Amino acid sequence: MVEVELEDLPGVGPAIAEKLREAGLTTLEAIAVASPAELVATAEIGEATAAKIINAAREAADIGGFETGEKILDRRESIGKLTTGSKSLDVLLGGGLETCAMTEFYGEFGSGKTQIAHQLVVNVQLPEEQGGLNGSAIMIDTENTFRPERIKDMADGLGLDYREVLKNVHVARAYNSNHQILLVEKAKELADELRDTDKPVRLLIIDSATAHFRSEYVGRGTLSDRQQKINKHLHDALRFGDLNNAVVMITNQVQVRPDAFFGDPTRPIGGHIVGHTATFRIYLRKSKGEKRIARLVDSPSLPEAEAVFTVTKAGIRD
Ligand code: GTP
Ligand code: MG
Repeated sequence: MVEVELEDLPGVGPAIAEKLREAGLTTLEAIAVASPAELVATAEIGEATAAKIINAAREAADIGGFETGEKILDRRESIGKLTTGSKSLDVLLGGGLETCAMTEFYGEFGSGKTQIAHQLVVNVQLPEEQGGLNGSAIMIDTENTFRPERIKDMADGLGLDYREVLKNVHVARAYNSNHQILLVEKAKELADELRDTDKPVRLLIIDSATAHFRSEYVGRGTLSDRQQKINKHLHDALRFGDLNNAVVMITNQVQVRPDAFFGDPTRPIGGHIVGHTATFRIYLRKSKGEKRIARLVDSPSLPEAEAVFTVTKAGIRD
């Protein structure tokens, strides 16, 4: 983080700085990657001032210009990978869930989305040699399905003290889509607070990312409004990942396509909007008993493939 105060940016007085901070734009990095429209809305300033502030933040934070491919390769070497607990699922993902990226798990009820979320909040606390990121986790729970008892099972499965594990899991229940959007801002504040501790936040989960939006925006007329809100929300979450070198994991249900005559008649909610924001999309299907099938659907660098894993009492395994 760069040691410059927001007030040092041209056009930012104490009042504007306060509004920016209230909106969760607490660092130069956050302002550098904000859009002018966002600043106009949060700080009640004109578009030209907003653009000036963003440009100054970009220069101060050294963000947003051209860079060489070599430099990008160097930066990608600082990207961490988080294990799911299943070797085959990790291989499917190219070694685990990547930091600074969003991974979406979608599938029908009982397909294992929430179980994977629980396993990740445990695994993220492991040291890097064991596939963790030595960090803590934030979970935005929209369906009230977070269960500390499952964390205990999974901590036991790894020989960890479950009370210690639970201390590093920060859970907030989101009551509606607006609240859910706000919680990403709160997550940024919490991550700022924990940044210099021995367990910085390295994982953000939104389980489920789309359920509230789906139930609140009913009917065709509101669809584009809904898509716009989901789009911004997911980009906020992705930005959280970038700013904290954290994994962003979201879950999504499927809806049945009555018009599908061949192939799989289900598709993820939110369609292209979610698909374009998520860096990795995994489609989960139930198989026999504890077995689940994961399919990597879209990835910038990996082939489409499938993996089998199981949901056991001790958690996600091969
Ligand atoms: P929705 O949120 O309803 O869309 O589903 P989901 O994909 O989040 O499902 P979830 O991850 O909650 O999976 C629930 C399933 O996990 C159950 O039906 C069980 O098959 C399995 N499961 C949950 N707890 C246990 C457990 O303690 N032991 C075992 N073996 N399986 C469990
Ligand atoms: Mg669930």
